[in-house]
Amino acid sequence: MLKEFKTPISGKSVFIGPDSKEDIYILALESSCDETACAIVKNGREVISNVVASQIKTHRMFGGVVPEVAAREHLDAVNMVIESALEQSHMKPEELTAVAATVGPGLVGSLLVGLNAAKAFAVTHDKPFIGVNHLNAHVCANYLNSDIEPPMMALLVSGGHTQIIKVDSYLNQEILGETIDDATGEVYDKVARLLGLDYPGGLNLDRMAPSGNPKAYILPKAKVSGEFDFSFSGLKTAVLNLTKKLTANGEALPKEDVAASFQECITSTLFEKTLKAAEKYGIKLIVLGGGVAANSEIRKKFYSLVDKGYKIHAPEMKYCTDNASMIASAAYFLTNTTDSLEIEVFSRC
Ligand code: KG4
Ligand code: ZN
Repeated sequence: MLKEFKTPISGKSVFIGPDSKEDIYILALESSCDETACAIVKNGREVISNVVASQIKTHRMFGGVVPEVAAREHLDAVNMVIESALEQSHMKPEELTAVAATVGPGLVGSLLVGLNAAKAFAVTHDKPFIGVNHLNAHVCANYLNSDIEPPMMALLVSGGHTQIIKVDSYLNQEILGETIDDATGEVYDKVARLLGLDYPGGLNLDRMAPSGNPKAYILPKAKVSGEFDFSFSGLKTAVLNLTKKLTANGEALPKEDVAASFQECITSTLFEKTLKAAEKYGIKLIVLGGGVAANSEIRKKFYSLVDKGYKIHAPEMKYCTDNASMIASAAYFLTNTTDSLEIEVFSRC
């Protein structure tokens, strides 16, 4: 399983994939949202260097990511992260096999910075350029520093997406279901804001929830027509109405109980549907991906399946949230990539 890529200047063929007899070193860039990241990964799995410049502090002032500000910060950080990744790896650009970058989905202005920096680097050093889909890459984060192999059922939960993906082979990622409205991380961040927690709220809500009672309030689980689809906008509204009702008499909001009840509702929905998909297709390996895969309750629920004969895998925390190592891994394993320097960024799938 090898894919042919061409070097941009000399037009030389370079073959990349798990069947390669030579070691493949891919330098990748990620800039789809609020992290500017660069990494070098050997043979799709072994992380040689991984650098992330986070913009969280800047966006915290605004309570969320401001696209225009994000793009400017990527521009300030992009050369620095490339230099750091090379320095940490002790490698020279000549020793790299290829250069990859996220093409989309994401914020257009932000994506443009990483993509153009990667294209420029590829042209300067005459290395093949590989354009990667960010969502496929979140699934590939499971291959990093691990021996995980398909077939597997993946739950991808991030700030922008919620999907159940059946991975039959390295090449085939089939989306079985997804959210029809808000993404899991988005709802986490919005509910966290209602509770007065700082951006990015998901992690802060996750930290608060264990001190509350998850059965304090029964929140609605939406019924959707697609067997493996999700809908979370009703849950978001229900939490908003609940907080209004609880504080109507001027009483203090029982934040911990609301956080715990919300966390129980959303994580059990994600867990039940993913398990149903795994059962339906007879897949015994379930993997997690995306920023929300760092969530303690999601991990707890899924890892409880080990007793029932399932194998569960989640990337290390730093590879759950946005990073460039997963982009390098996707560039190595997948074939739905491109080496066209003409490729444009895209914001939505
Ligand atoms: O994958 P990611 O880094 O960026 C996107 O591609 O969207 O995901 C970021 C999302 C944010 O919404 C953040 O609040 C959420 O992941 N998040 C969490 C946790 N850690 C990060 N949500 C719930 N629990 C966590 N522990
Ligand atoms: Zn992401």
